Amino acid sequence: MILRRLTPELLDALPPDAPEARASRRDLHALNALMGHRRAWRSWLRREFASTPPRAIAELGAGDGAIVAENLLTTFPDGNGATLFLVDRAPCVADGTLRTLQHAGWSVRVEKADVFDWLSEPRPLDAICANLFLHHFDDTALARLLALASRAAPLFAAMEPRRAWLGLAGVAALPLMDAHPVTRHDARVSVEAGFCGRELSALWPRAGWICEERRALPFSHWFCARRT
Ligand SMILES: C[S@@+](CC[C@H](N)C(=O)[O-])C[C@H]1O[C@@H](n2cnc3c(N)ncnc32)[C@H](O)[C@@H]1O
Repeated sequence: MILRRLTPELLDALPPDAPEARASRRDLHALNALMGHRRAWRSWLRREFASTPPRAIAELGAGDGAIVAENLLTTFPDGNGATLFLVDRAPCVADGTLRTLQHAGWSVRVEKADVFDWLSEPRPLDAICANLFLHHFDDTALARLLALASRAAPLFAAMEPRRAWLGLAGVAALPLMDAHPVTRHDARVSVEAGFCGRELSALWPRAGWICEERRALPFSHWFCARRT
């Protein structure tokens, strides 16, 4: 398909409380469910951690943190003191989400930070995940981000938009679900900035890692790297 093209996303420039931002985040919830991302992250958590939660896991570009937080709660109803870092330069995690996680024994740290700064500080992490986040960066920034992530944890996984005609067809259908204009714009530019082939593996440091990268679900692209 076409080469990757990066266009700034409207949601990134809106104050988290703006009505357009709220509407677009609501659409994102619906889209994450519709595209199968929620289910995919739950399967991944079960596969990787069986019945014991990771001691510390971070979501990069977490936004309201809903996707990983909900899945952690369903998969591990008892967090047993494990730590979840929700990293975003404009986090908007609902108090209800925080309370529910804390009540279930999770220690939640909402980290308002740029990912590059945050990843530069060493902290013990079992895993890092990212949903609809890596496509924000051009290849140079992405190579830097992935290098930092590879030093920060032994396991990294990302679910991203797939750069394919089917994705653009899906975007054209968004008015049918009454998606907000911000969502429609951001969905189109996200597909154009998305990934295909082994583009993320090519940017991941080679030695000492096993990378899995593939088409996932109808519209998505999956990448997982595991330290050997
Ligand atoms: C498309 S939203 C995805 C939110 C969430 N992962 C989801 O699936 O609903 C991308 C998020 O990345 C955050 N973001 C963009 N660039 C960032 C950066 N350099 N550092 C930290 N967060 C960033 C934005 O604030 C936004 O919340």
